[in-house]
Amino acid sequence: MKFFVDGANVKEIKELAEMGLVDGVTTNPSIIAKTGRKIKDVIAEICEAVDGPVSAEVTATDVEGMVREGKYLAKIASNVCVKVPLTEDGLKACYRLRQENILVNVTLCFSSMQALMAAKAGATFISPFIGRLDDIGQEGMTLISEICQVYDNYPEITTQVLAASLRHPLHVKQVAEIGADVATLPAKVFKQLVKHPLTDNGLDAFLKDWQSTGQSIIED
Ligand code: G3P
Repeated sequence: MKFFVDGANVKEIKELAEMGLVDGVTTNPSIIAKTGRKIKDVIAEICEAVDGPVSAEVTATDVEGMVREGKYLAKIASNVCVKVPLTEDGLKACYRLRQENILVNVTLCFSSMQALMAAKAGATFISPFIGRLDDIGQEGMTLISEICQVYDNYPEITTQVLAASLRHPLHVKQVAEIGADVATLPAKVFKQLVKHPLTDNGLDAFLKDWQSTGQSIIED
């Protein structure tokens, strides 16, 4: 399973990459806005820090505008993946950008049939938003199961299911059990996934016992 960092804090991304946990990065206009920096600079810096795909989202809503912005973003680095919304114009832009071999992530997906349309349009990734469905009282996780089931029925579909809007470790456990290709997580959730109180307690006890021996492993 691939893990992407959902965020644009380069320091945090680099720290997670040092553990070998980062296969890519996703951003969106809200995430970029929080940095207070220019999208071009942030995306360039992330692309240098990470080998895998780095999603950068267009903000035009018409097809020509999306294609123009998409091509501009794709020129920032070879691992840029252009993110377009799941609208009719977004699918047209996806189809056009894919003709030029540009990676495309189709975002804001809330139904399995939207996901099927994105696959037909040639999307590299489809981003269903789990947490935002949970927010309105619908089972976000059901959407991941439905998309995986539909895609699995058609071996010619190569679009990868990128589970997004994951807010906590249980979301990650569930998408991993279902078999999503990618989970994109805020840095905070990576840290929650690593941490376990029994690990910390166990390590404390080991170190205390070790200290009582007076030994050090390396003697000279
Ligand atoms: O990748 C999409 C994700 O950033 C949305 O997450 O928590 O804003 O719904 P959230």
